[in-house]
Amino acid sequence: MRIAITRPVSPSIVECQLTFQERQPIDFDLANQQHRDYEQCLVALGCKLDRLPAEPDLPDAVFVEDTAVVLGEVAILMRPGAESRRPEVRSVAEKLKTYRRLLRIEPPGTMDGGDVLCVGRQIFVGRSRRTNAAGIAQLQNLVQDYGYCVQAVEIRDCLHLKSAVTQVGRDTLLIDPTRVDPAGFEDFNRIETDPGEHHAANALLVGETVIYPRVHVRTRQRLENYGITIRTVNISELAKAESGVTCSSLVFES
Ligand code: GLY
Repeated sequence: MRIAITRPVSPSIVECQLTFQERQPIDFDLANQQHRDYEQCLVALGCKLDRLPAEPDLPDAVFVEDTAVVLGEVAILMRPGAESRRPEVRSVAEKLKTYRRLLRIEPPGTMDGGDVLCVGRQIFVGRSRRTNAAGIAQLQNLVQDYGYCVQAVEIRDCLHLKSAVTQVGRDTLLIDPTRVDPAGFEDFNRIETDPGEHHAANALLVGETVIYPRVHVRTRQRLENYGITIRTVNISELAKAESGVTCSSLVFES
């Protein structure tokens, strides 16, 4: 069964972490509605929703992707780079232990799940403001016995690796070449984002379908020209919290 772990938007989202974006007003009610629509999209694509308890005092708690990486064999609990986000991990651990054996990134390592792109047995990890060398070395040690290979990737001017590159097909990646060097992904088919669209590389592959922000119409056309099936969502409010479509769920086979 395909599981999607999500969490309600916190009313304190207006105090979220921001790294590359200016703070803008977030319409909390609209953010909630959009998040519910996103959850319904996951359900329509065959996911069983497993919702975490709300964390009203943790502004970024809706962005569950950053708290864990779920592989087929184990889950790795992250140690988020932003200290304010570390308390989010506790309830995620409680939930994930019903699905997987748990491993974790320990101090001094830091890592956000948004920096971790798993494609088959290859795990790309962005060197970012949130993910440090100690975290990457730990991840390599934790997963190598399961047959995974970890590769560090340089990124530019964006929060996470998955702001710059995501998986949109079994062997196909969507890449923003202004944020990450496409040459680092030469084993894959690569679709580049439209040069006029920023923050357009974050897509969420669920089964054979890609969940994608409605706003990026030209990059969407590129994906469709490639034969990729798209379902669009409006994430205008959480995008103001520096989010994409991968950030608000952890999707895996139980
Ligand atoms: N607001 C999402 C993050 O910075 O982690």
